[in-house]
Amino acid sequence: MSLQGKRIVVGLGGGIAAFKAVELVRELMRRGAEVRVVMTDAARRFVGPITFAGLTGKPPVTDLWAEDYAGEVHVELGEWADAVVIAPATMNLMARAANGHADDVVLATLACAKGQVFFAPAMHSRMWSHPAMQRNAEALTRSGAVLLGPVIGPLASGEIGLGRMMEPVEIADGVETHLAHAKDLEGVRLLISAGPTHEDLDPVRFIGNRSSGRMGYAIAAQALRRGAEVTIVSGPVHIPPPSGAEVVQVWSARQMHEAIMSRFDAFDVVVMAAAVADYRPHRRAGQKIKKGENLQIELVRNPDILADLGAKRAQRPAVLVGFALETENLEQAAREKLVKKAADLIVANEAGAGLGGDTNRAVLVEAGSSTPLPQMSKRALADQILDRIRVLLHQAAHRQGREAERDAPN
Ligand code: C5P
Repeated sequence: MSLQGKRIVVGLGGGIAAFKAVELVRELMRRGAEVRVVMTDAARRFVGPITFAGLTGKPPVTDLWAEDYAGEVHVELGEWADAVVIAPATMNLMARAANGHADDVVLATLACAKGQVFFAPAMHSRMWSHPAMQRNAEALTRSGAVLLGPVIGPLASGEIGLGRMMEPVEIADGVETHLAHAKDLEGVRLLISAGPTHEDLDPVRFIGNRSSGRMGYAIAAQALRRGAEVTIVSGPVHIPPPSGAEVVQVWSARQMHEAIMSRFDAFDVVVMAAAVADYRPHRRAGQKIKKGENLQIELVRNPDILADLGAKRAQRPAVLVGFALETENLEQAAREKLVKKAADLIVANEAGAGLGGDTNRAVLVEAGSSTPLPQMSKRALADQILDRIRVLLHQAAHRQGREAERDAPN
């Protein structure tokens, strides 16, 4: 674990947990980072700037108006930093950051940050669960920031709840992990399908499934963060897409098939995370079906998008990833799918482990290996999947290189 050579701004908001920022600065420096500290007025009420001056060898920046900065200190720091870590991130500070305020040195530095931004929220659990806080947290995440915590534990009030700031070592771990991944997918073009498909019965009814789109959107968000170009072909979902992705909205499996088949050759990686309906009603009634006796609906097979891509042989994307949701014999079924659909990786989920929720448990099945992973957030799982995709891309590039060599005229 190392942050050797990384330049990190630690920004403090005014909360009790500010004293832990001292430990965070030390921890980041112990791992090799160069650290500068910026503080709000409120933060200075909790911990003295002199402590940070002693630790980092540089006085923290506490005032946008200080006369000893000739230029614009927030621009300079925003440019300098590989990462800006806000700890503690109070409800107020996060609300203001989410809305683009820039009237103190911490907010102005955030506004200018070129590197990855992290927030370590610290507040009472009722503040954390407040709808405004949740909206702001979501907006910050969507704009590319990473939230580290909060965690459940003793709060300043003496109660136990969700809102406690992560421990400094865990914050440093989170920063390190993210920076290690930073931009390792630069130049990779990724097409991902997400969400359910809806198969119309008539103008108002459809057959659908419980897929929320969260897993596919999490992969898209992490891939964007890691530098990839991302297009999402999305079925009907109720979550906002990550900023920076191109989004193609579709409704049915046939529309998804068309959207993907007409685009895939411009991409290096295709991930089929969508829960594509296997069947659709044979006929879509032109008018709302009237109530009557029991109704029989004839279903016909939809095209299998993943299998069609796999069958493209020479023109297929360099890496093809599918998902498998099973209620029994998970790994065996995934392995059969890997072969039948000619995919490079199948992410196998136990039914119930992930559908609709925020966490997931999966086994990553490839030709030569199976990797069972513990239950984790969809974001963490997305990174694990992307780590494998990166390896598969390297292998594909090697293979192509060897083939080109073999085919080249002597
Ligand atoms: O065969 P099964 O539906 O379990 O396979 C799941 C995988 O195949 C998923 O990656 C899913 O997105 C993809 N799929 C597809 N077209 C279908 C059905 C599934 O691309 N019609």
